[in-house]
Amino acid sequence: MTDATTTPVPRFPEGFLWGGATAANQVEGAYAEGGKGLSVQDVMPRGISGPRSAEPTEDNLKLIGIDHFHRYAEDIALFAEMGFTVYRFSIAWSRIFPRGDEATPNEEGLAFYDRILDELEKHGIEPLVTISHYETPLALAEEYGGWRSRELIGFYERYARVLFERYGSRVRYWLTFNEINSLLHAPFMSGGIDISQGEVPRQELFQAMHHELVASARATRLAREVAPAAQIGCMVLSMPVYPLTPSPDDALAVLAADHGNLVYGDVHTRGAYPGYFLRTLREEGIELDITEQDREDLRNTVDFVSFSYYMSIAETADPELRVEGEGNIMGGVTNPTLPASEWGWQIDPVGLRLVLNQFWDRWQKPLFIVENGLGARDELVQVDGKKTVIDDYRIAYLNDHLVQVAEAVEDGVEVLGYTAWGPIDIIGASTAQLSKRYGFIYVDRNDDGTGSLDRYRKKSFDWYAEVIRSNGGSLTR
Ligand code: BG6
Repeated sequence: MTDATTTPVPRFPEGFLWGGATAANQVEGAYAEGGKGLSVQDVMPRGISGPRSAEPTEDNLKLIGIDHFHRYAEDIALFAEMGFTVYRFSIAWSRIFPRGDEATPNEEGLAFYDRILDELEKHGIEPLVTISHYETPLALAEEYGGWRSRELIGFYERYARVLFERYGSRVRYWLTFNEINSLLHAPFMSGGIDISQGEVPRQELFQAMHHELVASARATRLAREVAPAAQIGCMVLSMPVYPLTPSPDDALAVLAADHGNLVYGDVHTRGAYPGYFLRTLREEGIELDITEQDREDLRNTVDFVSFSYYMSIAETADPELRVEGEGNIMGGVTNPTLPASEWGWQIDPVGLRLVLNQFWDRWQKPLFIVENGLGARDELVQVDGKKTVIDDYRIAYLNDHLVQVAEAVEDGVEVLGYTAWGPIDIIGASTAQLSKRYGFIYVDRNDDGTGSLDRYRKKSFDWYAEVIRSNGGSLTR
């Protein structure tokens, strides 16, 4: 690799998709409207940073969200104004199957996503749909034990079939599970596995992981039959890992951390469990229930790999040197060479280039960056009589990461597109706050629930519009 710090930013390919990404539970609100059932998110008022509640409680910002359920047309028009060519959103499973185990879907819920797709088509924006983004129907969590139960594979498959049949002719890009590799780290949010009564044995967590992987592969097989034009992707949380020191033991610690993350992508792209994972199971004395049919199902590999990228971590085998920092769901050892966001997530644009190369070298599948961005506190100010946010810190973060995407493309990595996380301010996943803002569009709502919900364009709004218009040509070193 060359040091390209003084050379021009490489060009993005023609047809590169530019846009933003959201998740239903973080934007829609209307948690009990249109026949929607409850999802795990409706009882997570503090995200993964606090305990679940027994029932939905008023302090849970997600119940109203940013009211996208009622304002989607206005929001999509703003995305179109920035020139989005792709928009990633998720379908709330409990809008389509309120409990998750019904035989027939809720027509009102399906009609809502028809309207979203109508709006996107009107503006010429390509949809990218996540089938399940951290919102398992609550009944499946409470009555079946979440993804620990094999029955969820069938419920998910039924749900996926309904989506492919209904929207298959309108949606090309699909993702099966958001950040499927977060299951062991956030069992309730990611797998509907309630941990409020105490720790869940790893045997059960690994079994749940297996069920999700089989469900993902079955959805892929189903799409080939029902929606042959569909491109199916897996979605993983990426987190490059650096050795804290050059010692071989630290390199081994990196390998172990990488294996823990990469096994999901390995199964999705190669169709079977890798040897290092089988070794972990053996050493931990875990025996999974894997049927012959499961093994056959897993052979339905994905068309592309998508991932989120926010930060990198370090690893060390030396307990004396271990200083753990904050991080996106998984966290890790703090890297002394990197700055961090206000929430302690270490900022590392080069890590994005590294992870793009790692995934491409390893899997040889087209890649899609479906989440990246900076969560920061914003201050609304008046400029020329208009309310806005001067978010130069966000512009710098995104610019520097996109330069590294361009470098990876130049390295020969096939990248389909980039969707910035939370193009409009949304409710956070890990802390369930609104004050942790990612958007190009400011939403007037506060952590205490007050606010008009009005939308305002930030400085980064025009900046991103120009990046898209110039296909990356306006990025700077
Ligand atoms: C990803 C999730 O882990 O990170 C999103 O897929 C989430 O749902 C995003 O919002 C950013 O995390 P947070 O906690 O800042 O919202």
